[in-house]
Amino acid sequence: MQQSSAIILGIESSCDDTAAAIIKNGKVLANIVANQSVHEKYGGVVPELASRAHQQNIVPVVNEAIKQAGISKEDIDAVAFTNGPGLLGSLLVGSSFAKAFAMGLNIPIIEVNHMHGHILAHFIEDENELPPFPLLCLTVSGGHTQIVKVTDYFNFEIIGETIDDAAGEAFDKVAKMLGLPYPGGPILDQYAQLGNPIFEFPHPKVKEHHFSFSGFKTSVLYFLKREIAKNENFIAENRNDICASVQKTIVAILIKKLKGAITATGIKHIAVAGGVSANSELRKQILSLTEEGCTTYIPKFEYCTDNAAMIAITGYYKYLENDFATQQLVPNARMKI
Ligand code: KG4
Ligand code: ZN
Repeated sequence: MQQSSAIILGIESSCDDTAAAIIKNGKVLANIVANQSVHEKYGGVVPELASRAHQQNIVPVVNEAIKQAGISKEDIDAVAFTNGPGLLGSLLVGSSFAKAFAMGLNIPIIEVNHMHGHILAHFIEDENELPPFPLLCLTVSGGHTQIVKVTDYFNFEIIGETIDDAAGEAFDKVAKMLGLPYPGGPILDQYAQLGNPIFEFPHPKVKEHHFSFSGFKTSVLYFLKREIAKNENFIAENRNDICASVQKTIVAILIKKLKGAITATGIKHIAVAGGVSANSELRKQILSLTEEGCTTYIPKFEYCTDNAAMIAITGYYKYLENDFATQQLVPNARMKI
């Protein structure tokens, strides 16, 4: 490592949140996120509208981050940005901005993989203890469900992943069936906390440490259809219990596979990352792994869902390694970890 002190601007625009953060030597000075409410009425993210909203938000969000950090833009040593995976048009806004901003200041740019960022959110210096390596990380977001073996800041091995829908997608799609607004995951979580998990849904049979949520989603759909045929107010009358049952099943599927991976690898340092790690039941179940001899790491809420602090911290570690990108780099919507 050659550099030791750095101020990094992180930019995240892979989906529907426009975010900027400033990190100085591993500590967050500012972490700003602008959510896009424009998608709510469509029940999902509309890529073209997301790109336009990013264009509107990016300059004020970056300005606000610099202001809140109490620095001037000339103090920034490098700009880290999400280069994938994500929506191409959304990635283009963040990456083009990052390149232009860095070129204007004559400072380097750093490419960050969004999923890498979710994992390294654990290494933001906070009051929390930083996890040691090797680490098993359950990464659960709207687009991904993976169990990743993390051996250092840059070495990852995916030991299990979903063969169809992601866990966040399962939450959002079931929430949509229940008539909840997008994104339904956090709302479903709130109702679940008011209900009891009295309905049973089957668990998928998938080999090794892999996941599947598509059959589960279909089973909820048929269950609702059957019950609504008997009582047209079934959802309204049982909303909290349905949410609690759905949440319990999704979390149970995740935890069962995670436990299998813990046994197979012998790794006892367990982390959870990605938007679904904000889920109350998942946080509870992850914490209870301590009873089985594991040490668990759960990021603060603001570092679970999409944010730029996780991009800036990844950028910081890459900066220490002089791992810079060129202005010729293009976004990669299907970037692998
Ligand atoms: O990581 P993230 O912010 O964006 C992606 O990279 O996908 O994850 C968003 C996903 C959405 O599916 C959202 O519904 C889900 O995380 N999510 C939750 C909760 N908070 C966010 N799912 C269940 N319970 C929550 N509390
Ligand atoms: Zn994400």
